[in-house]
Amino acid sequence: MSKKIQGFIKSLRFRLLLLCTLLGIIPGILLRAGMLNSYETRAVSIRTSEILSQAKILANQIVSNDYLNHTDTAMIDVQLEQLSTIYDGRVLVIDERFYIIKDTYELDEGKMIISEEVIKSFYGDEITKFDSENRYIELTVPLIFVDKEQDLKKVLGVMLVSVSTDSINLNSEYLARSTLVLELVSIFSVILIGSVIALQLVKPFDKMSRSIEKIQNGYGDDALEVSDYTETIQICEKFNGMLGRMKVLDASRQEFVSNVSHELKTPLTSMKVLADSINSMGDAPVELYKEFMADIGNEIERETKIINDLLSLVKMDKSAADLNISNININELLELILKRLKPIAERQEVELVLESFRPVTADVDEVKLTLALSNLIENGIKYNRKEGWVHVSLNADHQYFYVKVEDSGIGIPKEDLEHIFERFYRVDKSHSKEIGGTGLGLAITRNAILMHRGAIKVFSTEGEGTIFNVRIPLSYVP
Ligand SMILES: Nc1ncnc2c1ncn2[C@@H]1O[C@H](COP(=O)(O)OP(=O)(O)OP(=O)(O)O)[C@@H](O)[C@H]1O
Ligand SMILES: [Mg+2]
Repeated sequence: MSKKIQGFIKSLRFRLLLLCTLLGIIPGILLRAGMLNSYETRAVSIRTSEILSQAKILANQIVSNDYLNHTDTAMIDVQLEQLSTIYDGRVLVIDERFYIIKDTYELDEGKMIISEEVIKSFYGDEITKFDSENRYIELTVPLIFVDKEQDLKKVLGVMLVSVSTDSINLNSEYLARSTLVLELVSIFSVILIGSVIALQLVKPFDKMSRSIEKIQNGYGDDALEVSDYTETIQICEKFNGMLGRMKVLDASRQEFVSNVSHELKTPLTSMKVLADSINSMGDAPVELYKEFMADIGNEIERETKIINDLLSLVKMDKSAADLNISNININELLELILKRLKPIAERQEVELVLESFRPVTADVDEVKLTLALSNLIENGIKYNRKEGWVHVSLNADHQYFYVKVEDSGIGIPKEDLEHIFERFYRVDKSHSKEIGGTGLGLAITRNAILMHRGAIKVFSTEGEGTIFNVRIPLSYVP
């Protein structure tokens, strides 16, 4: 089967059309069959009771005229003939020896007839039977002699009437033909109406697919809006939500790229300015050369730091499978970090204190965790005041270890708190500007902690200080 046909069969349009058609046709067919059947049954039963009442009247006359002994009674003969012609049938009169004494077809007179119905009728019952296959009604009526004086009843014979039902059949065939025409007309209309309804119902989905295509190609509105059904409204809402998220992601990617370019360009621009100005001076004193070269060296250092930070971020963006896990003594790790940062803290006149509540060993990536915690403590020192302090504490329970980095620094404004973990984000304050940094530190810290399946939280009050709480599982679960 070609893909097009398969697609059509699977389509909502086809299913709706099929449903409408089936719903229209099946009741029609059942109704027609039921109607024809009930017409036949009813017509046969009316015909039977008509003939039965005629036959009973005739049976009485046969007995009262003693026709069984005087078959030459002309009046009875006429009536028997009449009954036979009116109903297009045959009448037999049978005496008590089962001999046919009268046959309106004059075929079997004098012959014997023994059938179940005839015998039953000799017991005084009227028997009616409809043979639908051979299309005739047969009925037997007992010829009963009643002697009222002696209260006596005697069956003298039986009258058998068999009548063809051809006329009923003709009628029912005619009815079948005319209802078939009606049915075909109704099926055709149902399919037509069904197609229109199916097309109408599916339209909003077509509209939706066209709008999505437009959005995909970059034309048309920025949001999907098909408000025909509750379902389409819901799908549109979900789609627009997804679109919004994609736009945010795209915007943040673009912003990241432009930030990276900008950050990488700044040190280069400074170096270029320094080099140009020293070149334009002609024979400048050696001291000036040295000073400018030192400045250029600083800029190169800054550029190297940015590139290294970017590299660690890119590395951490990859899967957690890149973690190099080993069992590490966290107390020693923190002591080492503090020892390294001590000179910077002393230069800033900031007191650096480590408080270990218990010995802790955990399965961690030593390099990445060192980077993460160093960034936090370095920030505490950098964004501090003179004679301030940074307190680092380590604690643990049976599942996690906790590192708290608390400082007495400048704090972070409320509106900036949710952004500080973003790449290149720096709180926009002249103070923060004069302190060196790329704004990548906290992004690296957060990534490293998340890779360890840990969590980081920040609390800060402007002008009072900041607390970073870190929680990391003691054993690493990949
Ligand atoms: N302890 C803190 N106290 C006050 N402000 C902070 C603190 N830690 C971070 N910040 C603010 O959050 C910003 C982002 O910090 P982050 O560590 O990511 O970048 P950075 O320190 O500026 O540069 P980098 O760490 O890459 O050298 C900082 O610029 C600073 O404004
Ligand atoms: Mg930092």
